[in-house]
Amino acid sequence: MIKGFIFDLDGVITDTAELHYLAWKKLAEEMNWQFDRAVNERLRGVSRMDSLNIIKDHNNATVAEDRLLELATMKNDIYVASLDTLTPDDYLPGAKELLTHLRQEGFRVALGSASKNAAKVLEQLEAIGYFDIIGDGNSVSKSKPEPDIFLYGAEKLELKAEECIVYEDAEAGIDAAKAGGFYAVGIGPDDRVGHADVRFDSMAEATLFAVKSHFKELF
Ligand code: BG6
Ligand code: MG
Repeated sequence: MIKGFIFDLDGVITDTAELHYLAWKKLAEEMNWQFDRAVNERLRGVSRMDSLNIIKDHNNATVAEDRLLELATMKNDIYVASLDTLTPDDYLPGAKELLTHLRQEGFRVALGSASKNAAKVLEQLEAIGYFDIIGDGNSVSKSKPEPDIFLYGAEKLELKAEECIVYEDAEAGIDAAKAGGFYAVGIGPDDRVGHADVRFDSMAEATLFAVKSHFKELF
């Protein structure tokens, strides 16, 4: 039976993907690197350093390890400054309603984000109270598609993987959920999250009612 839910943050609760994109774009401009939305799509759900390596490799650039760390910090400084623009009006449509609904029905809820800035994002949204456990990029060392962040959330919620549903918008995130033995709800197009147990185009459609209807035998 389903007793808990674990949510990805960027692209599920709020659209920070755009702010990540703008920050990487600014860094790429300073480096004279090619970077566009198609490359950015490949960064969805991917950790900061892995993202930087994807952009670097896309440009066939060679960068020393300590310089890579500097560049990651530069991008992060730009991104963190842009988070000040985020407000409680910036939930993706349907996300706040779903979190409220889960609280009302007494489900246990965790965050399972790859971001090291998750706490700041939740503060800006005033969303901390919706989560019993906050798992983020500081909680585990192996990032998605490894299942560690979701296993961390389930363990802290004192639930088994098969008692939890994971919401994810990234290909690597669905891979991580499936690898951990979780039920996965994919948010986004078929070519990205079609391997989830059930897929919705947007959070507005991925209501508790819709999910319960799909996983009838688990509720
Ligand atoms: C994920 C985002 O949630 O977090 C990625 O989808 C991002 O785009 C990753 O790279 C790491 O985020 P941060 O805030 O630690 O750089
Ligand atoms: Mg995401």
